[in-house]
Amino acid sequence: MSKKLFIQTLGCQMNDTDSKHIQAELEKHKGYSSTQNIEDADLIIINTCSVREKPVQRLFSEIGQFNKKKKDGAKIGVCGCTASHLGEDIIKRAPYVDFVLGARNISKIKDVVDIKGSVEISIENDDSQYEFAIANNNNFRTSVNISVGCDKECTYCIVPSTRGDEISIPPFMIVSQIQKAVDNGVVEVALLGQNVNSYGKRFSNNTAKYSFTQLLQDISKIDGLKRIRFTSPHPLHMDDDFIEEFARNPKISKCIHMPLQSGSSNILKAMKRGYTKEWFLNRALKMRELIPDLRITTDIIVAFPGETHEDFLDTLDVVNQVKFDQIFNFKYSPRPNTKALELKDLEIEDSIGSERLDELIELHKRYLEKSMPDMIGKTVNVLVESLKPNGEVSGYTDNYFLVFTKGSDELLGKFVNVKITSATRTALKGEIVE
Ligand code: 5AD
Ligand code: SF4
Repeated sequence: MSKKLFIQTLGCQMNDTDSKHIQAELEKHKGYSSTQNIEDADLIIINTCSVREKPVQRLFSEIGQFNKKKKDGAKIGVCGCTASHLGEDIIKRAPYVDFVLGARNISKIKDVVDIKGSVEISIENDDSQYEFAIANNNNFRTSVNISVGCDKECTYCIVPSTRGDEISIPPFMIVSQIQKAVDNGVVEVALLGQNVNSYGKRFSNNTAKYSFTQLLQDISKIDGLKRIRFTSPHPLHMDDDFIEEFARNPKISKCIHMPLQSGSSNILKAMKRGYTKEWFLNRALKMRELIPDLRITTDIIVAFPGETHEDFLDTLDVVNQVKFDQIFNFKYSPRPNTKALELKDLEIEDSIGSERLDELIELHKRYLEKSMPDMIGKTVNVLVESLKPNGEVSGYTDNYFLVFTKGSDELLGKFVNVKITSATRTALKGEIVE
């Protein structure tokens, strides 16, 4: 009987992909198969995130629970960003943890899994040319990392210290990985990196000069691949070439993530984002102009140290002008190894942060309540991806509306036209039409 792996993933899409790589590597090289049941597992892995909150406390209480529930002889591994920054302290504090594997060391999983007490967390490690075992998200969609690490120094962000310097994965490896997935029936790919549109800045082999726009062009030549998504692009690197390719290329999903972080040029400067309010608006509105169905999602941090009421009004102003389709809102949270810790004296009272967060959420809620019903009566093209227990199926449009309709498993993986009959703030519902 094969050994069983239980894996819990926190955090971003890159962590999801890292977990899939861990799983695929352990299946291929170590004979594991996955289980959803922790009591059955021979190996329990928690893949951690450290971008916000106080994950350390949570990590130790969680692995404490795992330790109580696990069967005799089962191992526990801690992976990901918190593993990177705490390293062997994890084992000192929780000696029942068998190994610690940092976010930049995923290819080493098969080395550490059988060595009690091993810790691999070097942020110098270069996984950029490592060929991971194949791991698809589902039968129709796959995620592919196009770079590791991040060269930016956004002052609030812990990622550069957990994932290290940015290295691009050579284009031929990316294209061949996508080709293999497409040969297995995949029609959509999500390209992942902390900063995808600085792709090509540094390779660790001798790849010639090559940009993100070129990568998009080469990937779109793959026959059978229907949709290309990517996350996250940095607003600073959205040059005209990129925007024109984005608008022109029919395979690129017309939903883009543009992390604003703040609408105030002063705060953007303190965050070291490299762009101003005006630049962001110029890029976003240019894209809106070129692409009528475009949907734009964003990340916003409120109450960054020193954020005044006027700064916050600038953020609301950008929200009102760009009309984001989805906003991931966060209250600033001080993180270890970040420059913003030096601004401790300017930190904003928590209650003010909460008020700003609520105001932003409320503003956006009102916008969606007004805008989503505009979709009623329109017909959209949907890739059906999952079956619901109530006789419905769901999937996404090219510009990433989530759509529900009546249907059965025969529709899975098919593109169908759906006439929208109702809308909530987050999803659409409709009937299949010819
Ligand atoms: N505090 C709050 N939000 C943060 N993010 C990153 N670091 C912090 C922090 N210290 C948010 C940013 C980023 C998203 C992934 O998490 O908005 O885009
Ligand atoms: Fe963090 Fe900025 Fe890099 Fe994004 S671009 S991972 S926010 S440092």
